[in-house]
Amino acid sequence: MVFKHAYARKGLSGTLLLLSILRDYCGCHWEAWEAWSSCTESCSGAANEDGWDFERCNTNCFNGGSFVELGTLDGYCRCPTGYVGNCCETIVTCGYPGDINNGRVVGISFTYDQVVQYECIEKYNLTGYASRRCTQSGTWSDMSPTCQFAKHCVSSPCKNGATCVDGLGFYTCECVTGWTGAYCDVDIQPPVMEGCPGNLKKFVSNRISEISWPAPTFTDPMATSLIIESNYNTNISLPWGDFSVQYVATKPSNGQVTECIFHISVRPNPCDDLAAPANGILMCNGWQKDYFHICLFTCLSGYYLPQGFNYAQWYVCGQVATGFL
Ligand SMILES: *[C@@H]1O[C@H](CO)[C@@H](O)[C@H](O)[C@H]1NC(C)=O
Ligand SMILES: *[C@@H]1O[C@H](CO)[C@@H](O)[C@H](O)[C@H]1NC(C)=O
Repeated sequence: MVFKHAYARKGLSGTLLLLSILRDYCGCHWEAWEAWSSCTESCSGAANEDGWDFERCNTNCFNGGSFVELGTLDGYCRCPTGYVGNCCETIVTCGYPGDINNGRVVGISFTYDQVVQYECIEKYNLTGYASRRCTQSGTWSDMSPTCQFAKHCVSSPCKNGATCVDGLGFYTCECVTGWTGAYCDVDIQPPVMEGCPGNLKKFVSNRISEISWPAPTFTDPMATSLIIESNYNTNISLPWGDFSVQYVATKPSNGQVTECIFHISVRPNPCDDLAAPANGILMCNGWQKDYFHICLFTCLSGYYLPQGFNYAQWYVCGQVATGFL
């Protein structure tokens, strides 16, 4: 049975008293809650501008709403979640959640508690929430997701043998050695050096001698030309002494430089073994025969050096080219 009833929502009690005895053409009148089957929505309430109104569901709230009575003439429907309206007759709607770029919304119900799904078109991946629910406040839960291009690598954007890694809306290039930059097209390869000699020690007879050494080689895997400079030629006449040799390879295309530095010691040849003179003794400072090795000889008891010879003279290996007695 449908209850129809008019009740006072606002207005003056004096007026209410007056109207309460009046019935309209449907037989409705303003009174305490009761069942009036002949009282319809189109009846009564006509005077609502005067402060009267009509509640078309009477005390029977829709969609599981519960009626809350306020005194004998007034009341309201307390609606369940997701329903609104005087009689809880209106379900909350969130409306169409809106299109997304490069994707679509799957779902046709946009009312309270309904769920829509999102899908991306081919080659796009979804980020964010793949589904949203219509909440009681009439808004969709969460943010709408986005569809982002996930197939950048098919166009081979990475150069020089780099590995392309797809991301969502971006990609990264993992460069091989010698290359850098977003696309691995920036050459950071320095000249590659081979055969840089270690420190050298050369023994020569002459005070100034031609000294040679194996020159290092420099190459560029990227096949650009290199400028190679050195402070000494490979074959050069050098006196006894110590020398620092430097090779510098410069790659003009990127300014990278590789250096080879080593030291050369040029020393006189060691002297031959000195034999002790007949009837004499040789006294040296050690067993070595290197430069600055010093020997002294003296005669055995009862023997003498030839006249005029200063036997106390020290002989130093390498100091005199003519050798020793
Ligand atoms: C995009 O989705 C596909 C399929 O789920 C997956 O294989 C691929 O790794 C994703 N791409 C990115 C960049 O996350
Ligand atoms: C350097 O000297 C070596 C040995 O004397 C010789 O074989 C070579 O040809 C010389 N190289 C140059 C570039 O003069």
